[in-house]
Amino acid sequence: MSVAKKEYKRVTVKSLIEMKKGGEKISMLTAYDYSMAKIVDAANVDVILVGDSASNVMAGHETTLPITLDQMIYHASSVIRAVNRALVVVDIPFGSYQSDSKEALRSAIRIMKESGGHAVKVEGGLEIKDSIERILNAGIPVMGHLGLTPQSIYKFGTYTVRAKEEEEAEKLIEDALMLEQTGCFAIVLEKIPATLAKRVAESVTIPVIGIGAGNGVDGQVLVVHDLVGLTQEFNPRFLRRYMNLYEEMGNAISDYVNDVKSKDFPNDEEQY
Ligand code: KIV
Repeated sequence: MSVAKKEYKRVTVKSLIEMKKGGEKISMLTAYDYSMAKIVDAANVDVILVGDSASNVMAGHETTLPITLDQMIYHASSVIRAVNRALVVVDIPFGSYQSDSKEALRSAIRIMKESGGHAVKVEGGLEIKDSIERILNAGIPVMGHLGLTPQSIYKFGTYTVRAKEEEEAEKLIEDALMLEQTGCFAIVLEKIPATLAKRVAESVTIPVIGIGAGNGVDGQVLVVHDLVGLTQEFNPRFLRRYMNLYEEMGNAISDYVNDVKSKDFPNDEEQY
């Protein structure tokens, strides 16, 4: 279905709020390097997230916990060099904002100064309100992240759907209202019931971007490696794979190996 929408030469935090007001869904996707970010940006994705999921998909760690602030800055600066249109949001990694609000501000400033990112994302609600306020007071836009927050995986124990029980759902709604009142420009809701996500999106004026949170929110985010099928072992119900790049790349690389072994590559035109 084609959607009439305003053209944005450069997406800003203001554009996202306009999109929500105008009923235009927001597209968001991760990228962690220059080449992938170029493709994602050219495809008109509104928001590029330099997610700490780089810890899983780029470095092969089991969780997002090991990635460092320096590594996030490296990924974000590579992405920024590729991007002309999208708003680039950078995750502040685990251990770089939880201890106190001064540390949170220092980390956010390093990301903005050293990578050129446009905004930061943090996981959590009331527990990190002071840090969010301090970062916002420095003029740095903040995106919140509630529901399944992978930096707390050892507290949850599993990656299953969050906030199915009333108590956790109520806390999530309170946290979302707090994030809006504090001045966050958007909220990611990860892996929660679709009805709850819709209720949150209808209760706040800032955009709510879902991942495994149904279609009643203001936009969607996926990990680009999952969307193109580069990751094979990760198969949650919410994921729609648009291609099987793992297989396609594997086939191309096997062809190359065969061509080298059979002395077909390089041919006369492929040499000097
Ligand atoms: O790090 C990440 O990729 C994320 C998305 C899953 C929202 O936080």
